[in-house]
Amino acid sequence: MKRTLVSEAVKMVGKKVRLCGWVDSKRDHGKVTFVDLRDRTGKLQVVGVGKLGELRSEDVVEITGLVKERPEKLINPKVETGKIELEVEKYEVLSKSVDLPIPIDGDGYDIGEKQRTKYRYLDLRRERMSKNIRLRSEVGQFLRNWLMERDFIEVETPILTKTTPEGARDFLVPARLQPGKFYALPQSPQQYKQLLMVAGVEKYFQLARCFRDEDARADRAYGEFTQLDIEMSFVSQEDVLELTEKMFTEMVKELFPDKKISKIPWPRLTYGEAMEKYGTDKPDLRKNKKDKNELAFGWVFDFPLFVKQSEEEFFHGSGEAKFAPSHHMFTAPHPDDIPLLSKDPTKVRGSQYDLVLNGFEVGGGSIRIHQAEIQKKIFELIGFSKKQKEEFEHLLEAFTYGVPPHGGIAPGLDRLLMVILGEPNLREVIAFPHLTSGKTSVMDAPTKVAKKQLKELGIKT
Ligand code: AMO
Repeated sequence: MKRTLVSEAVKMVGKKVRLCGWVDSKRDHGKVTFVDLRDRTGKLQVVGVGKLGELRSEDVVEITGLVKERPEKLINPKVETGKIELEVEKYEVLSKSVDLPIPIDGDGYDIGEKQRTKYRYLDLRRERMSKNIRLRSEVGQFLRNWLMERDFIEVETPILTKTTPEGARDFLVPARLQPGKFYALPQSPQQYKQLLMVAGVEKYFQLARCFRDEDARADRAYGEFTQLDIEMSFVSQEDVLELTEKMFTEMVKELFPDKKISKIPWPRLTYGEAMEKYGTDKPDLRKNKKDKNELAFGWVFDFPLFVKQSEEEFFHGSGEAKFAPSHHMFTAPHPDDIPLLSKDPTKVRGSQYDLVLNGFEVGGGSIRIHQAEIQKKIFELIGFSKKQKEEFEHLLEAFTYGVPPHGGIAPGLDRLLMVILGEPNLREVIAFPHLTSGKTSVMDAPTKVAKKQLKELGIKT
Protein backbone atom coordinates (compact mmCIF):
# COMPACT_ATOMS: atom_id res chain seq x y z
CA MET A 1 0.00 0.00 0.00
CA LYS A 2 1.29 3.49 -0.90
CA ARG A 3 2.33 5.69 2.01
CA THR A 4 -0.18 8.34 3.06
CA LEU A 5 1.06 11.57 4.66
CA VAL A 6 -0.55 12.99 7.79
CA SER A 7 -1.70 16.05 5.83
CA GLU A 8 -3.42 13.81 3.27
CA ALA A 9 -5.25 11.70 5.85
CA VAL A 10 -7.80 14.48 6.46
CA LYS A 11 -9.33 13.78 3.06
CA MET A 12 -9.39 10.00 3.52
CA VAL A 13 -12.12 9.39 6.10
CA GLY A 14 -13.48 5.85 5.76
CA LYS A 15 -10.38 4.64 3.92
CA LYS A 16 -7.63 2.26 4.91
CA VAL A 17 -4.20 3.90 4.84
CA ARG A 18 -0.56 3.27 5.71
CA LEU A 19 1.31 6.02 7.58
CA CYS A 20 4.98 6.28 8.54
CA GLY A 21 6.67 8.56 11.02
CA TRP A 22 7.74 9.15 14.62
CA VAL A 23 5.87 8.61 17.85
CA ASP A 24 5.49 12.20 18.98
CA SER A 25 3.76 11.37 22.24
CA LYS A 26 1.77 8.58 23.85
CA ARG A 27 -1.07 8.41 26.36
CA ASP A 28 -2.16 5.13 27.92
CA HIS A 29 -5.81 4.87 29.01
CA GLY A 30 -5.98 1.28 30.21
CA LYS A 31 -6.88 -0.86 27.24
CA VAL A 32 -6.83 2.07 24.83
CA THR A 33 -3.56 3.73 23.82
CA PHE A 34 -3.37 7.08 22.03
CA VAL A 35 -0.31 7.92 20.01
CA ASP A 36 0.42 11.13 18.11
CA LEU A 37 2.15 10.11 14.92
CA ARG A 38 4.39 12.81 13.42
CA ASP A 39 5.69 13.11 9.90
CA ARG A 40 7.04 16.07 7.96
CA THR A 41 3.53 17.38 7.33
CA GLY A 42 2.07 17.29 10.83
CA LYS A 43 0.67 15.10 13.59
CA LEU A 44 -2.21 12.65 13.66
CA GLN A 45 -3.91 10.94 16.59
CA VAL A 46 -3.70 7.16 16.39
CA VAL A 47 -5.92 4.94 18.54
CA GLY A 48 -4.99 1.41 19.43
CA VAL A 49 -7.30 -0.88 21.37
CA GLY A 50 -5.08 -3.43 23.07
CA LYS A 51 -2.25 -2.28 20.82
CA LEU A 52 0.65 0.26 20.73
CA GLY A 53 1.40 -0.16 24.44
CA GLU A 54 5.07 -1.00 23.84
CA LEU A 55 5.75 2.19 21.81
CA ARG A 56 7.94 4.95 23.19
CA SER A 57 8.42 8.55 22.14
CA GLU A 58 10.52 8.99 19.00
CA ASP A 59 10.26 5.37 17.88
CA VAL A 60 9.90 5.20 14.10
CA VAL A 61 6.79 3.28 13.13
CA GLU A 62 4.65 2.22 10.23
CA ILE A 63 0.94 2.01 10.99
CA THR A 64 -1.89 0.67 8.85
CA GLY A 65 -5.45 1.41 9.81
CA LEU A 66 -8.77 3.10 9.14
CA VAL A 67 -9.20 6.91 9.05
CA LYS A 68 -12.27 7.77 11.14
CA GLU A 69 -14.10 10.89 12.20
CA ARG A 70 -13.60 11.56 15.92
CA PRO A 71 -16.57 11.50 18.26
CA GLU A 72 -17.91 15.07 18.62
CA LYS A 73 -16.55 15.61 22.14
CA LEU A 74 -13.03 14.54 21.18
CA ILE A 75 -12.66 17.02 18.29
CA ASN A 76 -9.66 19.31 18.67
CA PRO A 77 -10.32 22.50 16.66
CA LYS A 78 -6.74 23.73 17.23
CA VAL A 79 -5.05 21.25 14.88
CA GLU A 80 -5.68 20.56 11.21
CA THR A 81 -6.16 16.85 11.84
CA GLY A 82 -8.28 17.49 14.94
CA LYS A 83 -11.46 16.06 13.43
CA ILE A 84 -10.03 12.65 12.54
CA GLU A 85 -8.05 9.79 14.01
CA LEU A 86 -6.49 6.60 12.79
CA GLU A 87 -7.76 3.30 14.15
CA VAL A 88 -4.86 0.86 14.17
CA GLU A 89 -5.15 -2.39 12.36
CA LYS A 90 -1.50 -3.38 12.43
CA TYR A 91 1.80 -1.67 13.01
CA GLU A 92 5.51 -2.26 12.87
CA VAL A 93 8.35 -0.61 14.75
CA LEU A 94 10.94 0.31 12.10
CA SER A 95 13.44 1.71 14.60
CA LYS A 96 13.44 2.07 18.37
CA SER A 97 14.58 5.27 20.09
CA VAL A 98 16.27 5.60 23.45
CA ASP A 99 15.46 8.63 25.62
CA LEU A 100 16.47 11.85 23.85
CA PRO A 101 19.27 13.91 25.43
CA ILE A 102 17.32 17.14 24.83
CA PRO A 103 13.59 17.84 24.90
CA ILE A 104 12.16 18.64 21.48
CA ASP A 105 8.57 19.51 22.33
CA GLY A 106 9.04 23.14 23.39
CA ASP A 107 10.58 26.09 21.54
CA GLY A 108 14.05 25.09 22.78
CA TYR A 109 15.30 28.61 23.55
CA ASP A 110 16.22 27.65 27.11
CA ILE A 111 18.43 24.70 26.16
CA GLY A 112 22.17 25.41 26.05
CA GLU A 113 23.76 26.19 22.68
CA LYS A 114 26.26 23.33 23.07
CA GLN A 115 23.58 20.69 23.60
CA ARG A 116 21.37 22.01 20.84
CA THR A 117 24.17 22.00 18.26
CA LYS A 118 25.64 18.68 19.41
CA TYR A 119 22.23 17.07 18.84
CA ARG A 120 21.21 19.34 16.00
CA TYR A 121 19.52 16.49 14.10
CA LEU A 122 17.16 16.17 17.07
CA ASP A 123 16.83 19.91 17.60
CA LEU A 124 15.64 20.16 13.98
CA ARG A 125 12.73 17.80 14.80
CA ARG A 126 11.36 20.63 16.93
CA GLU A 127 8.32 22.17 15.25
CA ARG A 128 9.73 25.71 15.26
CA MET A 129 13.06 24.65 13.76
CA SER A 130 11.48 22.37 11.20
CA LYS A 131 9.30 25.30 10.12
CA ASN A 132 12.29 27.64 9.92
CA ILE A 133 14.34 25.41 7.64
CA ARG A 134 11.35 24.79 5.40
CA LEU A 135 10.68 28.53 5.16
CA ARG A 136 14.32 29.11 4.34
CA SER A 137 14.03 26.73 1.43
CA GLU A 138 10.88 28.52 0.24
CA VAL A 139 12.62 31.88 0.47
CA GLY A 140 15.47 30.55 -1.68
CA GLN A 141 13.05 29.21 -4.25
CA PHE A 142 11.00 32.41 -4.32
CA LEU A 143 14.08 34.56 -4.87
CA ARG A 144 15.49 32.26 -7.55
CA ASN A 145 12.22 32.24 -9.46
CA TRP A 146 11.68 35.97 -9.04
CA LEU A 147 15.11 36.83 -10.39
CA MET A 148 15.07 34.26 -13.20
CA GLU A 149 11.69 35.57 -14.37
CA ARG A 150 13.49 38.90 -14.76
CA ASP A 151 16.26 37.51 -16.94
CA PHE A 152 18.89 36.97 -14.24
CA ILE A 153 21.04 33.86 -14.37
CA GLU A 154 22.62 32.09 -11.43
CA VAL A 155 26.34 31.51 -11.75
CA GLU A 156 28.42 29.55 -9.26
CA THR A 157 31.82 31.02 -8.43
CA PRO A 158 34.83 29.25 -6.89
CA ILE A 159 35.14 28.47 -3.22
CA LEU A 160 38.85 27.65 -3.43
CA THR A 161 40.09 31.04 -4.52
CA LYS A 162 42.22 34.03 -3.68
CA THR A 163 41.83 36.37 -0.75
CA THR A 164 38.85 38.69 -1.31
CA PRO A 165 39.21 41.78 0.79
CA GLU A 166 35.84 42.46 2.48
CA GLY A 167 37.51 43.47 5.70
CA ALA A 168 37.39 40.25 7.73
CA ARG A 169 40.05 37.60 8.25
CA ASP A 170 40.36 34.89 5.60
CA PHE A 171 40.11 31.13 5.96
CA LEU A 172 43.13 29.59 4.26
CA VAL A 173 43.40 26.19 2.60
CA PRO A 174 46.85 24.74 1.89
CA ALA A 175 47.51 23.82 -1.75
CA ARG A 176 49.07 20.36 -2.01
CA LEU A 177 50.24 20.89 -5.57
CA GLN A 178 52.10 24.07 -4.64
CA PRO A 179 53.53 23.57 -1.16
CA GLY A 180 53.70 26.76 0.84
CA LYS A 181 50.86 28.35 -1.13
CA PHE A 182 47.28 28.75 0.02
CA TYR A 183 43.82 29.27 -1.32
CA ALA A 184 41.51 31.58 0.55
CA LEU A 185 37.80 30.90 0.92
CA PRO A 186 35.81 33.84 -0.49
CA GLN A 187 34.48 36.43 1.95
CA SER A 188 32.02 37.14 -0.87
CA PRO A 189 31.98 36.60 -4.65
CA GLN A 190 32.63 40.33 -5.14
CA GLN A 191 35.42 40.17 -7.72
CA TYR A 192 33.96 37.22 -9.60
CA LYS A 193 30.61 38.93 -9.98
CA GLN A 194 32.35 41.98 -11.38
CA LEU A 195 34.32 39.76 -13.77
CA LEU A 196 30.98 38.24 -14.86
CA MET A 197 29.91 41.75 -15.86
CA VAL A 198 33.05 42.01 -18.01
CA ALA A 199 32.00 38.61 -19.41
CA GLY A 200 28.71 40.12 -20.61
CA VAL A 201 26.39 38.25 -18.21
CA GLU A 202 24.65 41.58 -17.39
CA LYS A 203 22.26 40.15 -14.79
CA TYR A 204 23.81 37.77 -12.24
CA PHE A 205 22.72 36.31 -8.96
CA GLN A 206 23.86 33.51 -6.69
CA LEU A 207 22.79 32.10 -3.36
CA ALA A 208 26.41 32.34 -2.36
CA ARG A 209 28.20 30.91 0.64
CA CYS A 210 30.61 33.44 2.14
CA PHE A 211 33.39 32.67 4.61
CA ARG A 212 34.65 35.11 7.21
CA ASP A 213 36.80 34.47 10.21
CA GLU A 214 35.27 37.01 12.56
CA ASP A 215 33.98 36.82 16.11
CA ALA A 216 30.39 35.64 16.30
CA ARG A 217 27.54 37.80 17.54
CA ALA A 218 23.82 37.10 17.56
CA ASP A 219 23.53 38.61 14.08
CA ARG A 220 27.00 37.80 12.80
CA ALA A 221 27.98 34.23 11.99
CA TYR A 222 31.46 32.95 12.64
CA GLY A 223 32.69 30.96 9.68
CA GLU A 224 30.07 30.93 6.99
CA PHE A 225 26.82 32.51 5.97
CA THR A 226 24.78 32.95 2.80
CA GLN A 227 24.22 36.01 0.66
CA LEU A 228 21.74 36.59 -2.12
CA ASP A 229 24.47 38.04 -4.28
CA ILE A 230 23.27 40.24 -7.15
CA GLU A 231 25.09 42.22 -9.85
CA MET A 232 23.80 44.11 -12.89
CA SER A 233 25.31 46.00 -15.80
CA PHE A 234 24.21 49.42 -17.08
CA VAL A 235 22.30 50.29 -13.91
CA SER A 236 22.09 53.24 -11.58
CA GLN A 237 21.82 53.15 -7.80
CA GLU A 238 18.10 53.80 -8.22
CA ASP A 239 17.71 50.64 -10.36
CA VAL A 240 19.32 48.45 -7.68
CA LEU A 241 17.21 49.93 -4.89
CA GLU A 242 13.98 49.58 -6.86
CA LEU A 243 14.65 45.96 -7.79
CA THR A 244 15.55 44.96 -4.23
CA GLU A 245 12.55 46.78 -2.78
CA LYS A 246 10.10 45.16 -5.19
CA MET A 247 11.60 41.69 -4.68
CA PHE A 248 11.43 41.70 -0.89
CA THR A 249 8.06 43.45 -0.72
CA GLU A 250 6.58 40.71 -2.91
CA MET A 251 8.40 38.00 -0.96
CA VAL A 252 6.98 39.18 2.37
CA LYS A 253 3.49 39.35 0.88
CA GLU A 254 3.70 35.84 -0.48
CA LEU A 255 5.67 33.93 2.15
CA PHE A 256 5.07 35.92 5.33
CA PRO A 257 1.43 37.08 5.06
CA ASP A 258 1.23 37.78 8.83
CA LYS A 259 3.99 40.38 8.60
CA LYS A 260 3.31 43.97 7.74
CA ILE A 261 5.79 46.30 6.07
CA SER A 262 5.62 49.65 7.93
CA LYS A 263 6.01 51.92 4.95
CA ILE A 264 5.98 51.46 1.17
CA PRO A 265 7.95 52.87 -0.61
CA TRP A 266 10.65 52.21 1.97
CA PRO A 267 12.03 55.29 3.70
CA ARG A 268 15.40 56.55 2.48
CA LEU A 269 17.95 58.33 4.62
CA THR A 270 21.39 59.64 3.88
CA TYR A 271 24.12 58.45 6.21
CA GLY A 272 24.27 61.98 7.63
CA GLU A 273 20.52 62.07 8.32
CA ALA A 274 20.56 58.61 9.93
CA MET A 275 23.45 59.53 12.23
CA GLU A 276 21.92 62.87 13.18
CA LYS A 277 18.39 61.60 13.77
CA TYR A 278 19.04 58.11 15.15
CA GLY A 279 22.72 58.10 16.11
CA THR A 280 23.29 54.95 14.06
CA ASP A 281 23.63 53.95 10.39
CA LYS A 282 21.16 51.10 10.90
CA PRO A 283 18.15 52.77 12.47
CA ASP A 284 15.14 50.84 13.72
CA LEU A 285 12.31 52.54 11.82
CA ARG A 286 9.44 50.54 13.34
CA LYS A 287 6.44 52.55 14.52
CA ASN A 288 5.79 50.12 17.36
CA LYS A 289 8.80 48.16 18.52
CA LYS A 290 6.62 45.76 20.51
CA ASP A 291 4.75 44.55 17.41
CA LYS A 292 6.42 41.32 16.34
CA ASN A 293 4.79 41.43 12.93
CA GLU A 294 6.09 44.85 11.87
CA LEU A 295 8.87 44.97 9.29
CA ALA A 296 10.49 48.38 8.83
CA PHE A 297 12.70 48.22 5.75
CA GLY A 298 14.71 51.28 4.85
CA TRP A 299 17.65 52.49 2.80
CA VAL A 300 20.71 54.32 4.04
CA PHE A 301 22.95 55.84 1.37
CA ASP A 302 25.57 58.52 0.71
CA PHE A 303 28.05 56.95 3.13
CA PRO A 304 31.51 58.46 3.23
CA LEU A 305 33.68 56.43 0.82
CA PHE A 306 36.45 56.10 3.39
CA VAL A 307 36.65 55.55 7.10
CA LYS A 308 39.74 56.05 9.18
CA GLN A 309 40.83 52.61 10.24
CA SER A 310 44.10 51.31 11.51
CA GLU A 311 46.20 49.15 9.25
CA GLU A 312 45.87 46.31 11.72
CA GLU A 313 42.08 46.44 11.63
CA PHE A 314 42.09 46.49 7.86
CA PHE A 315 44.65 44.59 5.85
CA HIS A 316 46.05 42.54 8.67
CA GLY A 317 49.56 43.73 8.70
CA SER A 318 50.02 44.26 5.00
CA GLY A 319 50.91 47.83 4.21
CA GLU A 320 49.87 51.02 5.87
CA ALA A 321 46.20 51.94 5.48
CA LYS A 322 45.76 55.69 5.21
CA PHE A 323 42.07 55.44 4.45
CA ALA A 324 40.06 52.25 4.57
CA PRO A 325 37.03 51.82 2.30
CA SER A 326 33.83 52.00 4.33
CA HIS A 327 32.13 49.38 2.08
CA HIS A 328 34.82 47.83 -0.06
CA MET A 329 37.54 49.08 -2.38
CA PHE A 330 35.52 48.48 -5.56
CA THR A 331 32.85 51.00 -4.60
CA ALA A 332 32.57 53.99 -6.93
CA PRO A 333 32.95 57.47 -5.53
CA HIS A 334 29.82 59.62 -5.89
CA PRO A 335 30.17 61.15 -9.39
CA ASP A 336 29.94 64.72 -7.99
CA ASP A 337 32.76 64.04 -5.54
CA ILE A 338 35.46 62.70 -7.86
CA PRO A 339 37.40 66.01 -7.82
CA LEU A 340 37.58 65.69 -4.01
CA LEU A 341 39.53 62.41 -4.25
CA SER A 342 42.74 64.39 -4.68
CA LYS A 343 41.79 67.29 -2.37
CA ASP A 344 39.99 65.83 0.63
CA PRO A 345 39.26 62.08 0.42
CA THR A 346 37.38 62.04 3.73
CA LYS A 347 34.69 64.27 2.17
CA VAL A 348 34.05 61.93 -0.76
CA ARG A 349 30.72 60.12 -0.69
CA GLY A 350 30.52 56.55 -1.96
CA SER A 351 27.82 55.33 -4.36
CA GLN A 352 26.87 52.76 -1.78
CA TYR A 353 23.75 51.78 0.08
CA ASP A 354 22.73 49.64 3.01
CA LEU A 355 19.44 47.85 3.39
CA VAL A 356 18.23 48.07 6.98
CA LEU A 357 15.42 46.17 8.66
CA ASN A 358 14.19 46.71 12.23
CA GLY A 359 17.59 48.04 13.31
CA PHE A 360 19.76 45.47 11.49
CA GLU A 361 21.90 45.88 8.39
CA VAL A 362 20.49 43.12 6.24
CA GLY A 363 22.22 44.01 2.98
CA GLY A 364 24.83 46.20 1.40
CA GLY A 365 25.90 47.12 -2.08
CA SER A 366 27.26 49.76 -4.36
CA ILE A 367 27.82 51.02 -7.86
CA ARG A 368 31.32 49.86 -8.74
CA ILE A 369 34.33 51.53 -10.13
CA HIS A 370 34.66 50.52 -13.77
CA GLN A 371 37.55 52.79 -14.73
CA ALA A 372 41.00 51.33 -14.07
CA GLU A 373 42.34 54.85 -13.40
CA ILE A 374 39.92 55.51 -10.54
CA GLN A 375 40.49 52.02 -9.14
CA LYS A 376 44.26 52.69 -9.09
CA LYS A 377 43.63 56.02 -7.34
CA ILE A 378 41.62 54.22 -4.64
CA PHE A 379 44.44 51.71 -4.17
CA GLU A 380 46.83 54.65 -3.67
CA LEU A 381 44.56 56.25 -1.08
CA ILE A 382 44.17 52.97 0.77
CA GLY A 383 47.95 52.88 0.90
CA PHE A 384 48.45 49.70 -1.08
CA SER A 385 52.03 48.55 -1.58
CA LYS A 386 53.23 47.60 -5.07
CA LYS A 387 52.78 43.96 -4.14
CA GLN A 388 49.24 44.48 -2.92
CA LYS A 389 48.35 46.31 -6.13
CA GLU A 390 49.67 43.36 -8.12
CA GLU A 391 47.18 41.13 -6.31
CA PHE A 392 44.43 42.95 -8.21
CA GLU A 393 46.08 43.10 -11.62
CA HIS A 394 43.56 40.59 -12.98
CA LEU A 395 40.70 43.01 -12.31
CA LEU A 396 42.51 46.04 -13.72
CA GLU A 397 43.46 44.05 -16.78
CA ALA A 398 39.89 42.80 -17.23
CA PHE A 399 38.75 46.42 -17.13
CA THR A 400 40.94 47.22 -20.17
CA TYR A 401 38.84 44.98 -22.44
CA GLY A 402 35.56 46.86 -22.35
CA VAL A 403 33.73 46.82 -19.03
CA PRO A 404 30.11 47.91 -18.62
CA PRO A 405 29.26 50.27 -15.77
CA HIS A 406 27.81 47.99 -13.10
CA GLY A 407 26.56 47.69 -9.57
CA GLY A 408 24.80 45.35 -7.20
CA ILE A 409 23.87 44.34 -3.73
CA ALA A 410 24.15 41.36 -1.40
CA PRO A 411 21.45 40.87 1.22
CA GLY A 412 22.50 38.41 3.92
CA LEU A 413 19.96 35.62 3.74
CA ASP A 414 20.49 34.34 7.29
CA ARG A 415 20.25 37.76 8.87
CA LEU A 416 17.25 38.78 6.78
CA LEU A 417 15.39 35.63 7.77
CA MET A 418 16.37 35.99 11.42
CA VAL A 419 14.87 39.49 11.52
CA ILE A 420 11.74 38.64 9.53
CA LEU A 421 11.00 35.67 11.79
CA GLY A 422 11.84 37.65 14.91
CA GLU A 423 14.42 35.05 15.97
CA PRO A 424 17.03 36.15 18.51
CA ASN A 425 20.01 34.53 16.79
CA LEU A 426 21.21 33.53 13.32
CA ARG A 427 21.56 29.94 14.51
CA GLU A 428 17.78 29.64 14.60
CA VAL A 429 17.58 29.89 10.80
CA ILE A 430 20.66 27.80 9.91
CA ALA A 431 20.34 24.01 9.82
CA PHE A 432 23.84 23.22 11.07
CA PRO A 433 25.33 26.43 12.52
CA HIS A 434 28.76 26.92 14.02
CA LEU A 435 28.96 27.53 17.73
CA THR A 436 30.28 30.83 19.04
CA SER A 437 33.52 28.97 19.73
CA GLY A 438 33.81 28.09 16.05
CA LYS A 439 33.01 24.40 16.47
CA THR A 440 30.65 22.89 13.94
CA SER A 441 27.31 21.36 14.82
CA VAL A 442 27.34 17.62 15.52
CA MET A 443 30.72 16.87 13.91
CA ASP A 444 32.86 18.87 16.28
CA ALA A 445 35.28 20.28 13.70
CA PRO A 446 37.93 21.66 13.60
CA THR A 447 39.81 18.48 14.42
CA LYS A 448 43.42 17.36 14.40
CA VAL A 449 44.58 15.69 11.20
CA ALA A 450 46.96 12.84 10.55
CA LYS A 451 50.71 13.60 10.39
CA LYS A 452 50.71 12.06 6.92
CA GLN A 453 48.17 14.62 5.69
CA LEU A 454 50.26 17.50 7.01
CA LYS A 455 53.40 16.10 5.46
CA GLU A 456 51.70 15.86 2.10
CA LEU A 457 50.80 19.52 2.39
CA GLY A 458 54.27 20.50 3.50
CA ILE A 459 52.95 21.87 6.78
CA LYS A 460 54.45 21.69 10.28
CA THR A 461 52.33 22.66 13.29
P1 AMO B 1 28.87 43.06 3.09
O1 AMO B 1 30.18 42.67 3.64
O2 AMO B 1 28.26 44.34 3.56
O3 AMO B 1 28.94 43.23 1.50
O4 AMO B 1 27.84 41.90 3.32
C1 AMO B 1 26.51 41.97 2.86
C2 AMO B 1 25.54 41.39 3.85
O5 AMO B 1 25.92 40.09 4.26
C3 AMO B 1 25.50 39.86 5.58
N1 AMO B 1 26.67 39.47 6.42
C4 AMO B 1 26.64 38.51 7.37
N2 AMO B 1 25.63 37.73 7.80
C5 AMO B 1 25.91 36.84 8.77
N3 AMO B 1 27.11 36.71 9.33
C6 AMO B 1 28.17 37.45 8.93
N4 AMO B 1 29.37 37.27 9.46
C7 AMO B 1 27.95 38.42 7.90
N5 AMO B 1 28.73 39.33 7.26
C8 AMO B 1 27.93 39.95 6.37
C9 AMO B 1 24.89 41.12 6.10
C10 AMO B 1 25.47 42.16 5.16
O6 AMO B 1 24.64 43.27 5.04
N6 AMO B 1 30.36 42.00 -1.62
C11 AMO B 1 29.60 42.93 -0.80
C12 AMO B 1 28.22 43.18 -1.34
C13 AMO B 1 28.19 44.08 -2.54
O7 AMO B 1 28.86 45.13 -2.56
O8 AMO B 1 27.41 43.76 -3.50
C14 AMO B 1 29.51 42.36 0.63
O9 AMO B 1 29.82 41.24 0.91
O10 AMO B 1 23.49 41.05 5.95
